[in-house]
Amino acid sequence: MIDYTMNDGHTIPAVGYGVFLMSPAEVEAHLPEAIEAGYRHIDTANAYFNEKAVGRVVKRSGIDRSEFFITSKLFPQDYGHEDCGKAIDATLRRLDTDYLDLLLLHQPYGRYTEAWKTMEDAVAAGKVRSIGMSNFSQAKAQEVLDMASITPAVMQVEMHPYWNQHGMKAFFKDRNVTLEAWYPLGHGDAKLMAEPVFAELAEKYGKSPAQIILRWHLEEGNVVFPKTLNPAHMAANIDIFDFALAADEVARINSLPQKAYYTVPDEPPAFVLQHNDWDAQE
Ligand SMILES: NC(=O)c1ccc[n+]([C@@H]2O[C@H](COP(=O)([O-])OP(=O)(O)OC[C@H]3O[C@@H](n4cnc5c(N)ncnc54)[C@H](OP(=O)(O)O)[C@@H]3O)[C@@H](O)[C@H]2O)c1
Repeated sequence: MIDYTMNDGHTIPAVGYGVFLMSPAEVEAHLPEAIEAGYRHIDTANAYFNEKAVGRVVKRSGIDRSEFFITSKLFPQDYGHEDCGKAIDATLRRLDTDYLDLLLLHQPYGRYTEAWKTMEDAVAAGKVRSIGMSNFSQAKAQEVLDMASITPAVMQVEMHPYWNQHGMKAFFKDRNVTLEAWYPLGHGDAKLMAEPVFAELAEKYGKSPAQIILRWHLEEGNVVFPKTLNPAHMAANIDIFDFALAADEVARINSLPQKAYYTVPDEPPAFVLQHNDWDAQE
């Protein structure tokens, strides 16, 4: 595993395990396999409704909490100052931990500047080590940057070879913000995986197309947490540290046509507004 150092001095493992769209039962079944395979970085969220299961599995692993890097995310319904403080405490309770390694604002809606202040208070109180944003446009990120006492350590956005986020990276470069990739493998898109450049490089390095894509992320400095329920894929996705892509190979991958799978709307979509009872999970 390699670790990156974020702009606040804390380190983050470059590869983690994402648990989006996993039920508590799936987390109980598959997160232990991921931990067994060597993963220590887990990416969850209030809105994944599986934090309690993540907390149970981490406790049951018998591995010291300090060995793990745990991320969660707050939803806009909780961004008001008082609600946000309560939401952070509730997240810690569900995950059965006294601190989070990283806490993100999951969506760019509502009172996010207020929530940022409350997250800064949580850092001062030792409840959270690093804070960041997810899915923010550059304009909304700028609003946070303009009022923040703590510069965001992380921006988590859709990022894969079809959407390399070079514009967002240029925007954050001076502040050394670490970019994290959601959909690092294009959510399993068969067309992306079948791009000839990946087959060719897979043949050259004795790896799979998915491993070439994940190695491209590392060459780009991205944090990834591919999701898989398949133990063979879990092992493959962290077996990417024994080779490197050449600069011209990275450039070839970056010359693929660019298109996002999902455009974050300016106003909150219905699925964002529907959520709120985060304790309603096993
Ligand atoms: N902040 C946000 O708004 C946001 C949004 C979406 C996601 N996320 C985060 O990003 C994580 C990953 O996103 P994702 O799961 O949607 O997309 P993903 O990791 O890009 O793709 C997952 C798909 O790739 C397949 N896969 C994984 N490893 C593979 C391998 N070695 N070879 C071939 N196929 C492989 C999986 O199938 P198998 O099960 O068959 O391996 C699954 O279908 C989430 O779990 C979550 O933590 C965040």
